Amino acid sequence: MDKVIEVKNLTKTYGKKATAFTALKDINLSIYEGESVAIVGKSGSGKSTLMHILALLDKPTKGEVLIDGVNATKLKNRDLNKLRNERFGFVFQQFFMNANDSVLENVLLPLKIAKLSRGKRKKQAMEALKIVELEQKAKNKATNLSGGQKQRVCIARAIVNNPKIIFADEPTGNLDSATGDKITDLLFGLNKEQGVTLIIVTHDEDLAKLCNRIIRISDGKIISDQTVRKDSQKKASNRRESEAARVKKANERK
Ligand SMILES: Nc1ncnc2c1ncn2[C@@H]1O[C@H](COP(=O)(O)OP(=O)(O)OP(=O)(O)O)[C@@H](O)[C@H]1O
Ligand SMILES: [Mg+2]
Repeated sequence: MDKVIEVKNLTKTYGKKATAFTALKDINLSIYEGESVAIVGKSGSGKSTLMHILALLDKPTKGEVLIDGVNATKLKNRDLNKLRNERFGFVFQQFFMNANDSVLENVLLPLKIAKLSRGKRKKQAMEALKIVELEQKAKNKATNLSGGQKQRVCIARAIVNNPKIIFADEPTGNLDSATGDKITDLLFGLNKEQGVTLIIVTHDEDLAKLCNRIIRISDGKIISDQTVRKDSQKKASNRRESEAARVKKANERK
């Protein structure tokens, strides 16, 4: 398998002098094409910081990030933006959104940046909206959607340019279990069917166990990096299904 991301001796320090805080300490890590990786750990342990650096949204204080073998820490901003736009998809809540633009405009933004023609942009964006079942909201203002719908728009935008890697920070946080399940199915469907590499930050142990690898972080260090056994993956998946069936039954009784 190809290495898609490699991180060497990564350190991230925020602030200077008396207020300096080292959020990541000498991290070494390789992620391979087609993996699904969960990053877990307590609040403040450094998960989002690590994710932002892997996704080239932030720079390390020390160390290197290689994307497909290319040292991204040496790239110019323009090349960095291009690489990110072509290969990555983001599902980050704080990334949200141009509130006053339509749902469609929000979803086609990566294609606009990639300079696709107007017709192609619209076609691809509508396809992505269809996948998240929001094509009928295409013309609505983004700000007028519900929380779960906004999250699904983020997913549509994340997948619209057929990325190789999807980064998701708490993709199911703040969602009801049915909507959360839908988003989980979507992400893992892309992983299994199209070989998209998934990197997911989550507090949800069951979601983490659906991944084939779990990286645990504590105080800015990796404390474990385990492959999830197929049978625990299956158990987590079964638990989800029986929970979904329970919720469905409860709703039918109402
Ligand atoms: N811009 C910043 N300036 C200073 N400190 C920061 C900054 N961003 C994050 N930190 C600190 O770095 C540490 C790691 O933050 P990070 O956001 O990576 O945590 P996290 O594991 O994602 O937590 P959560 O689960 O709460 O989202 C925290 O102690 C945080 O306060
Ligand atoms: Mg975080």
